[in-house]
Amino acid sequence: MTHSIDLSRYPRLNLFPRPTPLEEMPRLRQAIGCKPRLFVKRDDTTTVALGGNKTRKLDFVMADAVAQGADVIITWAGVQSNHCRQTLGAAKKLGMDCHLILTGDEPAVRQGNLLIYTILGAELHFVGDEGVGRDPEAEMAAIAADLRKKGHTPYTVTIGASTPLGALGYVESVMEAVEQGKKLGVRFQHGFLATGSAGTQGGAEVGAREADPGMRIHGVSVSRDADSQSVKVAKLVNETYAFLGIDKTVTASDILVHDQYYGGKYGVPTEAGNDAIRLAGRTEGLILDPVYTGKAMSGMIDQLRRGAMDDAEAVLFFHTGGSPALFAMPEYYQR
Ligand SMILES: Cc1ncc(COP(=O)(O)O)c(C=O)c1O
Repeated sequence: MTHSIDLSRYPRLNLFPRPTPLEEMPRLRQAIGCKPRLFVKRDDTTTVALGGNKTRKLDFVMADAVAQGADVIITWAGVQSNHCRQTLGAAKKLGMDCHLILTGDEPAVRQGNLLIYTILGAELHFVGDEGVGRDPEAEMAAIAADLRKKGHTPYTVTIGASTPLGALGYVESVMEAVEQGKKLGVRFQHGFLATGSAGTQGGAEVGAREADPGMRIHGVSVSRDADSQSVKVAKLVNETYAFLGIDKTVTASDILVHDQYYGGKYGVPTEAGNDAIRLAGRTEGLILDPVYTGKAMSGMIDQLRRGAMDDAEAVLFFHTGGSPALFAMPEYYQR
């Protein structure tokens, strides 16, 4: 590879096999009836505790935890968090304990990601709903202080591992996909992904500008309007450039975010998202999720059906994982 970003300078743990597969989706293309060829980057196959995009970020972030001599990992997110599941999986794989601060109340039955937390032996702290219950950041700090007093070396992971170090995981994913495309003789003019805490899109924006500036990243927002999400992504892109020592910046207007596909509420499935989950499953055997990838896929399908990318040779979908959440919402998929 001849990219000027040399990720081998940054310590990582090789928690999963690279490259993740890149697959064509001819039957989905046929079902949509679109012109561009469709591909999927299978980042749902990243092996740590059922995998997903966070594992790519954690490969770098947890290397930092190891370098700092950590023996306990602390992080926070919602009760059904793919980020918490993968952080916990990585911690266990490294022989560390893991505290998860969960914004929500403890449900009567443990399902989906919460079931995995329980099986893998996380220390769980339910703090009530965000904005209503206890502040998860303050809770993390209090638990870290308490662990330090007891002689431990705790390491706190930012929600979504969306820091410049974590974003390197998506710089890499895009660079990898572009190389895989080259081997197949295919150029991706568009790349779709779900965007929330912004590390995935932030890294992907840096990776695309580096590996193929002709590739447009489309963030499908899962929780915010396009204006605020593009500001959030641009900030992380600029922090990542600074971290890498690259003298480049972007503004929010350089970042493309679609906010019409998440239904206005984080974590609540949409009809179009659920249709996309069934279509991708029935045509390609992919298992998407109700909170992120189903909504992102519904956005890609809608843009393709509108003909918005008809002049493109190929469009790439980043499958960022998340399927365990399906099992916490079985009522949506009974027929
Ligand atoms: C399955 C899945 N896809 C996409 C995302 C969004 O990634 P990011 O938080 O880096 O924007 C997440 C974040 O939790 C996720 O779990």
